[in-house]
Amino acid sequence: MDKGLFITFEGIDGCGKSTQIKLLTAYLRDVGKPCLLVREPGGTGIGEKIRSILLDKENNEMSPAAELLLFEAARAQIVDEKIRPALEAGITVICDRFYDSTFAYQGVARSLGEDLVITLNDIATSGLAPDVTFLLDLSVEDAFARRKGRGEADDRMELLGSKFQEDVRNGYLKAASKFDRIKVIDASRSVDEIFGDIKAAIEERL
Ligand SMILES: Nc1ncnc2c1ncn2[C@@H]1O[C@H](COP(=O)(O)OP(=O)(O)O)[C@@H](O)[C@H]1O
Ligand SMILES: [Mg+2]
Repeated sequence: MDKGLFITFEGIDGCGKSTQIKLLTAYLRDVGKPCLLVREPGGTGIGEKIRSILLDKENNEMSPAAELLLFEAARAQIVDEKIRPALEAGITVICDRFYDSTFAYQGVARSLGEDLVITLNDIATSGLAPDVTFLLDLSVEDAFARRKGRGEADDRMELLGSKFQEDVRNGYLKAASKFDRIKVIDASRSVDEIFGDIKAAIEERL
């Protein structure tokens, strides 16, 4: 049996990941491709507990290294428990954020070091890499306006301010310049235009 396709979505909060993932999941199910949708951090019993520690606004004393290692711990769990077994069973896996988030947030924006994060990502995944990653690139101002429109309270990571979000955006673009699997998508366009690009890229690979 062919291995499933491993697809990840990245980009700053409010760029449109959840919106596009919903469309892609529906499309894949329509064409009869079984798929598993998971989110990082979380997606397993252990991972959801780690997620609540990471996103809790009361944990504002968390050290950057503790944050990095918690993300990687949650990742190791979901790769072992969910992602690798699904891919081996021929299921397409769609992940809402994966290790390029760690590169951008902790490696670049928190200045913990790009190479260090790449090494830890490798340990957490035992070398498993996405087949394709969609980076939904949007300005910090536009993403902020979209988040307001969504009307949900911000979590600890979302409260970090626009300078931080700007650093994250640049971190993602840096990752895209390093890794060919990352497709930069102009996320300032309409939902349908963006999905057209994503669908075309996936159809090529199915
Ligand atoms: N292309 C788009 N144009 C305008 N608004 C959008 C677009 N994509 C998503 N949105 C809206 O922006 C908000 C944030 O989108 P969402 O998919 O939740 O982003 P993310 O999951 O990346 O944080 C939502 O209210 C969504 O409906
Ligand atoms: Mg989302």
